Parts: sequence; C-alpha cells; structure tokens
Amino acid sequence: MKPKVLVTREVFDEALEILGRHFEVTANQSDRPFPPDELARQLADKAGALTTLTDRIDATLLERCSRLKAVCNIAVGFNNIDLAACSALGVMATNTPGVLDDSTADFTWALILAAARRVTEAEAALRAGEWKGWKLKQFLGQDVHHATLGIVGMGRIGQAVARRARGFDMKVVYHNTRRLDAGIEQACGAAYAGLDELLERADIVTLHVPYSPTTHHLIGAKQLARMKPTALLVNAARGGVVDDGALLAALREGRLAGAGLDVFENEPALDPGFLALKNVVLTPHIASSTEATRRKMALMAAENLIAALTAQRPPNLLNP
Ligand code: DGY
Repeated sequence: MKPKVLVTREVFDEALEILGRHFEVTANQSDRPFPPDELARQLADKAGALTTLTDRIDATLLERCSRLKAVCNIAVGFNNIDLAACSALGVMATNTPGVLDDSTADFTWALILAAARRVTEAEAALRAGEWKGWKLKQFLGQDVHHATLGIVGMGRIGQAVARRARGFDMKVVYHNTRRLDAGIEQACGAAYAGLDELLERADIVTLHVPYSPTTHHLIGAKQLARMKPTALLVNAARGGVVDDGALLAALREGRLAGAGLDVFENEPALDPGFLALKNVVLTPHIASSTEATRRKMALMAAENLIAALTAQRPPNLLNP
C-alpha cells in the first residue's frame, strides 16, 4: 500500500503527478487554507504533507497527527513550522531554498522602482481620468541611480538584490548577522555596516531576513526614526519583520517618504491605513510568483517529500 500524503493547497499538475507515483495523494483543490482543526483532521492518517506558509504546523497540530513523518513547505521561509516541535515528534521539515532567489530579487526591484518613481500612484490617477496632460512638476519621484541602497539580510536573496544594484550605479551597504567574506562583498559591490548606520545612510532600505523571534519587529519606531525622511522602505521578506503600526505612523507623519510592501504583519488582513496612503506600493505576497519559479518550488517540495518517505535524506532538510 502506498503511504498517504496531503497537499494542503492547489499546486501544479506535475507535482501531483510525481507524488502520485509514490503516494496516495489527497489534494485540497479548493485552494483555501484548511482551518487548523480541519488540517489536523486531514493529516491524522497521513505520512507526509506538502504545506505552504498559510498552514500553521505547531505542536498542537503535530500531537494530533501521530503518523506524520514529513512536512515539506513550498517556500523558502518556514516560520509557519515549529521546527523544535517537529524534531521532538520525529517529523522531518523541509523548505525550497535557492530556486526563488532571482525572481524575488527581480520583484524587489519592481517595488523599489515603483515606490521611488510613484508608478502605482500615477497609474491610479491616469485610470481615474485625472491626467489632463504633461506637466513639469507632475509625480516628481526620486532617483534610484546613484542612490544608496541598504540591504538588511544578505543571504542569497539579499545578494541577488545587491548584484542588480550595479546597473543603477548605486552605493550598496548591507547588514547581516554575520559579515560576508571579502570576495562575496566584492562580487556584490556591497560594504558592511551596523544596522543603525545602514538605516541612517540609505536612501532605500530593503529587507531580506527570515522571520523569527529575533527578527520580529526588527524595524520598529526606533529604527524608522533613524531613517532619512526622504528614504523608502521595501519589504518582500515577512510582514512581522516590520512593526506595521510604527511604519504607518512614520509614513503618515512624513517621517518616511514611502514604502514598497509585498508582505504584511497579519496578512492577508491589511491595516486599512495602508490603503489610504498614496506613497505606498502594495502587492499581495507575490515576490516569488513567476510561472517558472512557483513551479520549481512545488516540484522541489515534492522531491523533498518523496525522499523523506522513501528512506532518503531530503535535500532541503531543516531539522537534521
Ligand atoms: C517564501 O518562499 O518564503 C515566499 O515568501 C513564498 O512566496
């Protein structure tokens, strides 16, 4: 008999196909996240699951799923999974690193450029019929070229963002828990700085740290107060890295020029305050969302699950 697995959200057919060769697959085709109780019920007789960041895999759930051996997240981030609880209960957890770096870095640049050049604000005005013709002082934005970019979190995605900054002749400063080797700094054209110094120097601050208790509200009122009033904040990492209330206050009070946000503290709920602000570009957590990348993520997660349940070490095991 094939082991039973659950796919908690809609995925690409190829992923279901390769899983089907090894497992009896139950797939949630409705593509709405299962509420926690329903997820626990669905997982009760399963040996493994393909999960997403909308599934909370914590001790309460795991204790109800005694057959579960592996949860394979279709995401590089895994803050939805309690790794300690997984380890304690003998459940392997995996993620999908690497395959989404370039798409996420590309999208970060979409946010940077859109926020700096007021793209969404100008488009909204045009669509609303407010454009009455060219004006010298219309939608004046900020130059990205030759500006200083501050990258907080210099892992693979942060580095990919830095490399793209070369094309804009920018100065790049980065902050990371661990300073990078000189060779990598040189390849990225980036200089190390403490977080406070970076916040004070950068014209654009972009966040690429994983979300954890250590990075919760890494950017709060105190950090925002260090930024230039002309600066922009970009977040395509995780909502909880920024204190949304403090950010809203800084944007409303003109202490920060603008923001580009792909992620939110309590997504999909959004503080309505953001919607009222013209100086914020808002997108619904799509930084990695290209056809090719999301497909690779799903297939990578499926391969992790196959390895985990066929007595091999999953390539992207998070809790060895
Ligand atoms: C990730 O991989 O963590 C992304 O946020 C998913 O879109």
